[in-house]
Amino acid sequence: MNFKGGSGKTTSSAHLAQRLALKGYRVLAIDLDPQASFTALHGVQPEFDLLDGGTLYDAIRYEDPVPIADVIRKTYVPNLDLIPGNLELMEFEHDTPRALARGNAGLFFFRVKEALAQVDDQYDVVVIDCPPQLGFLTMSALSAATGVLVTIHPEMLDVMSMSQFLRMTADLMDVIADSGADMSHDWMRYLLTRYEPTDAPQNRVVAFLRTMYGDKVLNAPMLKSTAISDAGLTKQTLYEVERSAFTRTTYDRAIESLNAVNDEIAQLIQQTWGR
Ligand SMILES: Nc1ncnc2c1ncn2[C@@H]1O[C@H](COP(=O)(O)OP(=O)(O)O)[C@@H](O)[C@H]1O
Ligand SMILES: [Mg+2]
Repeated sequence: MNFKGGSGKTTSSAHLAQRLALKGYRVLAIDLDPQASFTALHGVQPEFDLLDGGTLYDAIRYEDPVPIADVIRKTYVPNLDLIPGNLELMEFEHDTPRALARGNAGLFFFRVKEALAQVDDQYDVVVIDCPPQLGFLTMSALSAATGVLVTIHPEMLDVMSMSQFLRMTADLMDVIADSGADMSHDWMRYLLTRYEPTDAPQNRVVAFLRTMYGDKVLNAPMLKSTAISDAGLTKQTLYEVERSAFTRTTYDRAIESLNAVNDEIAQLIQQTWGR
């Protein structure tokens, strides 16, 4: 999560979900962003293929929610299932204040958690790509989550916007915690994205972040690479494209960076499981 668009949320969550699935974890990926880039990356066309619903909204709405299994679909990646997103997710942002006013929203921030509980025994990891805003969807994902990744492009304006995001998130989490919900997480990490090690100002920001947040910043950054953005143009991740499609060093550098990031996250998950 992060409310900065372009901070690499979708790119990092797609590569994380696919890497974990390829490693044998049973993964459920959820696109919670109405803009649905994660969905498009996985071959579902948000504006054509979901005319009769099929997003998480169907399973978390206040009236007649469907079983979450009804909106889960297989992807072409073994072990990776998907709940796609599209603009319909916005309905949750509109419904929640109305349901709250009527007094029947229940604990709105538990909607995602409760829906996921139905398939808890079928997955090892759930990866949620959040929308670039701090709405009810994001808060509900945040209370369902056991781990939180905040993507951050190391430039000063992005860091300023992130600190605003963190302050607002903390305030909202306090409000939710006051109503008795457990808003603690097993882990929370900053993930540096689109990082260019040869860029001096970026390096100063990275040094600043590492000083401020210490080991809360993942050791491995996601390097900026044309291999990653070019793969994105054809709606692919780097795990899907042929190595021969790129200059070998470009591909190798990018994939090493992605694997290092994703394996560091896998390690956090394993630690939480006590393995
Ligand atoms: N490591 C990277 N190297 C190069 N381009 C990247 C990288 N990560 C993301 N991008 C590109 O930056 C743009 C925004 O990334 P995206 O993951 O969609 O951000 P968000 O989901 O936070 O809006 C996309 O066009 C994507 O291809
Ligand atoms: Mg996105």
